Amino acid sequence: MINDYQDFIGRVKKLTRINLQLYKEAQMKRRLTSLYEKKGYRNFGEYFQYISSDSNGLNEFLDRMTINVSEFYRNGKRWDVLDQKILPRLIQKNDRLKVWSAACSTGEEPYTLAMVLAKHMPLSKVSILATDLDEEVLARAKMGVYHERSLNELPVDMKRKFFEKNGDYYKVNSEIMKAVTFKKHNLLADSFENNFDLIVCRNVLIYFTEDAKDMLYVKFSNALKTDGIFFVGSTEQIFSATQYNLETEDTFFYRKR
Ligand SMILES: C[S@@+](CC[C@H](N)C(=O)[O-])C[C@H]1O[C@@H](n2cnc3c(N)ncnc32)[C@H](O)[C@@H]1O
Repeated sequence: MINDYQDFIGRVKKLTRINLQLYKEAQMKRRLTSLYEKKGYRNFGEYFQYISSDSNGLNEFLDRMTINVSEFYRNGKRWDVLDQKILPRLIQKNDRLKVWSAACSTGEEPYTLAMVLAKHMPLSKVSILATDLDEEVLARAKMGVYHERSLNELPVDMKRKFFEKNGDYYKVNSEIMKAVTFKKHNLLADSFENNFDLIVCRNVLIYFTEDAKDMLYVKFSNALKTDGIFFVGSTEQIFSATQYNLETEDTFFYRKR
């Protein structure tokens, strides 16, 4: 019989390879406690019995521990900077770009990347890897179909150019879809590819402990080419970037030294 959060963490790691120790504790505990209480369980021990013997329960747990909210062109001003300042510079030095959208959720971010990149170069010269821990969001991402509200931030010309509209739903066109490869990947457990020109990792680092972030900054920095760019979320400024061989290029953009 297990009865507390630390035991639960150990068991979950064995079952799924997900290390909850590296996620901020108070936040995660609150989310999971409200989930198991709603289902009538009294403690983490009972809840673990359930998720380890019921695949729907396990999926629901995975769904709750990861927060999947995303949208196209999220925090638009930053995408404008990518478009107008960062990409022109990257392209000057490289005629092909290797890009990674890490923790891509349901695909809005990597597809936005493809749309912005398409303004600058043929997509045949771009490879975009898009990864997430959660297989369900990846399956949705691969479908490329979104409700109108996910596109609210996207400039109208891009909306017109890159989607086919069907009622309230919008489907990403095939040229954009072809540019993105989706893959399951756990940032906290799997190895990283390298030689990226641009890595986008937004709105996931906030859930991790300081130790986990520190480890990830090292790995992201190593995964970038010299002069490659690391683009983070709008609450995720890196305070001691130089420690990771990164220099501030613009707000929320870092260049590998
Ligand atoms: C809030 S979404 C961010 C989506 C997108 N990057 C954006 O900014 O709109 C966070 C995503 O991080 C993923 N995630 C959480 N922990 C992860 C991990 N250890 N490895 C990879 N992805 C993870 C979740 O599954 C979720 O899809």
